Amino acid sequence: MKYLITGAAGFIGAFTARSLLEQGHEVIGVDNLNDYYDVSLKHGRLEWLAHYPAFQFVTLELSDRQAVNQVFSQHEFDRVIHLAAQAGVRYSIENPHAYVDSNLVGFVNILEACRHQQTPHLVFASSSSVYGLNDRIPYQTSDRVDHPVSLYAATKKSNELMAHTYAHLYRLPVTGLRFFTVYGPWGRPDMAYFSFTRKILAEETIDVFNHGKMQRDFTYVDDIVEGVCRVAEKIPQPQSDWTVSTGDASRSSAPYKIYNIGNHNSVELGTFIDTIEQVLGKKAKKNYVDMQPGDVLATYADVDDLMADVGFAPNTSLATGLENFARWYRDYYKV
Ligand SMILES: NC(=O)c1ccc[n+]([C@@H]2O[C@H](COP(=O)([O-])OP(=O)(O)OC[C@H]3O[C@@H](n4cnc5c(N)ncnc54)[C@H](O)[C@@H]3O)[C@@H](O)[C@H]2O)c1
Repeated sequence: MKYLITGAAGFIGAFTARSLLEQGHEVIGVDNLNDYYDVSLKHGRLEWLAHYPAFQFVTLELSDRQAVNQVFSQHEFDRVIHLAAQAGVRYSIENPHAYVDSNLVGFVNILEACRHQQTPHLVFASSSSVYGLNDRIPYQTSDRVDHPVSLYAATKKSNELMAHTYAHLYRLPVTGLRFFTVYGPWGRPDMAYFSFTRKILAEETIDVFNHGKMQRDFTYVDDIVEGVCRVAEKIPQPQSDWTVSTGDASRSSAPYKIYNIGNHNSVELGTFIDTIEQVLGKKAKKNYVDMQPGDVLATYADVDDLMADVGFAPNTSLATGLENFARWYRDYYKV
């Protein structure tokens, strides 16, 4: 099949592209290669994808409607996997407009292009951050998610609403995936596991937010990719007997579905730091600080419907995943 992957030079996008290429699919990857974090990581990921003859890369700004339409006029896609976004919770406090441009304008351009091309299935990245003030754990896709605490989360929730509208109005089959704290080799330098590793190895002090009283459901990148690829095969079907009052919020009378993809195992920040220390063989110097605006206290995924529908749930242990990350980090940065 012919896949479009947006954000193909990004962390999750590059691994997803590689997996699909290994399965024998054709992949057109697009990305604007922005410098939100070290661009050499993006170029490095594209270097490994360039080895596949079935891979083509196009530098593309998603908020540029004409440029998006041009890619769709040149290719007819069997699947669109939309992973490009301005990511990061904390940065959305400093730079809100980047989120509107990439996550809202960019998303409507993808929706419109898919609608006109009648794409058989659009899969897009949402986020665990949509759960916001929800305090019922584990987080279920049937829970209400009306109280985000960062603009990043609000744009991801908006994507779910926009996607539902297109599924309803135009019968565009669309699936949203709420990823839970994704980590692994070639990951994002703005995320805690990455910056903690750098600082511990450099003997710098790490900031431990909310005095360590936070929990995250850390999900290894290979598990995310496995989930994305399986979900791409599973085109959501409209539920004919579904109503808002009796139905589950993750489904619809339209061809629309939302899944969580998380490790369904919430880990305390302290345990997380202990595990990094073990895999690095080095102790962290810690500075305990208050919670950052925009952060949530805990994330924890319920993945029962993912398991029921695609026969898979993430299962890589934190120790194994962090060992793989640390091995890559030392090799890549020669430390
Ligand atoms: N990594 C996580 O923990 C996590 C958790 C939840 C959700 N997500 C979501 O998963 C997706 C992938 O995340 P990631 O961790 O790989 O992030 P990433 O930043 O590594 O990848 C996103 C890519 O999109 C590109 N991009 C951003 N804005 C663009 C635009 N306007 N036009 C074209 N390209 C653009 C960036 O250059 C980047 O390469 C994102 O939608 C993110 O919000 C990630």
